[in-house]
Amino acid sequence: MKAIVIKEPGGPEQLVIQEVPDPVPAADEILVRVTAAGVNRADILQRQGKYPPPPGTPPYPGLEIAGVVEAVGEQCHRWKVGDRVCSILSGGGYAQKVTVPCELAMPVPPHLTDEEAAAIPEVFLTAYQTLIWIAGLKNDEFALIHAGASGVGTAAIQLARVVGAYPMVTAGSEEKIAFCRQLGAIGGVNYKKEAFPPKILDLTNGHGADVVLDPVGAPYFLPNLEALAMDGRIVLIATMGGTRVPEVNLRALFKKRAQITASTLRSRSLDYKIALSREFARTMMSRFDSGELKPVVDKIFSWRDVQEAHRYMEANLNKGKIILRIDA
Ligand SMILES: NC(=O)c1ccc[n+]([C@@H]2O[C@H](COP(=O)([O-])OP(=O)(O)OC[C@H]3O[C@@H](n4cnc5c(N)ncnc54)[C@H](OP(=O)(O)O)[C@@H]3O)[C@@H](O)[C@H]2O)c1
Repeated sequence: MKAIVIKEPGGPEQLVIQEVPDPVPAADEILVRVTAAGVNRADILQRQGKYPPPPGTPPYPGLEIAGVVEAVGEQCHRWKVGDRVCSILSGGGYAQKVTVPCELAMPVPPHLTDEEAAAIPEVFLTAYQTLIWIAGLKNDEFALIHAGASGVGTAAIQLARVVGAYPMVTAGSEEKIAFCRQLGAIGGVNYKKEAFPPKILDLTNGHGADVVLDPVGAPYFLPNLEALAMDGRIVLIATMGGTRVPEVNLRALFKKRAQITASTLRSRSLDYKIALSREFARTMMSRFDSGELKPVVDKIFSWRDVQEAHRYMEANLNKGKIILRIDA
């Protein structure tokens, strides 16, 4: 088969399609012919040599796919050849074939295209895990979602709405904020023009955000506490803006009885990922058919144009997901 390999750590020009050995499914795995793969920021870090794949994972980038089951291991009874599936992966999604643990794969909602299905796993499972499992977001609470127009952000806005919460966003342009409003955000702040805490307090009549989903990190550490409600929960999922906070007065945490958690999905155990995928599939997948949830696909690239797809993401141009169409 062919896969997109990283020639050596560096820029998008390091990504090239090459012939590689076919993966062989174990007894508890399925072999999937990949038709679409999602692009994620982690793929960029991996390309740069800053985020090596976990041991036992194919070296090619790609954390999520959709495709068709081509072979089924003898211990796997959930799937048959020809079924349409989508899944998170520890890596290796930029390829014509991948093996996926039988229990991890999710069914594709019938009316979705493969490109739409590939836009679901990584961002919706991340948003579900962080907002619902970790932060315990509930009905009538306010959720502040930073990078609201990002892949994770667009999923988080929709899931917050599903649980009856009120999502608010930050984003880098008025256009992105308008887009987030269409998805269900009650308001937003262009962080390039103004500080977000006063506007968040304003939007919530002084209450603040009960939950903050933060991929930005250091520069938002103190502003998040300022915008937080009493007993608020902050979940850090990345540090796109930096990792070091120079000086923190811990009183700011006590003032809000704040909880701060950091989480990564990729490094979780397979059992954890299976439990997450199965709960999400059981409780949320049918909502893609009813239209209550929708995969947000910004742009579909042929996988031959993967370099361009990475450049597009690095320029912060996407609203929602960038998808690679994988063909022969
Ligand atoms: N921990 C986990 O389990 C987990 C899982 C999935 C993803 N992630 C991480 O979550 C982050 C978002 O992922 P994604 O795939 O949704 O990203 P994405 O679709 O590529 O969107 C990222 C957006 O973040 C904004 N941004 C970039 N740098 C920023 C900065 N310094 N300050 C403020 N905003 C900034 C940009 O939008 P603006 O125009 O609004 O600035 C950019 O378009 C990534 O860092 C990713 O690695 C973590």
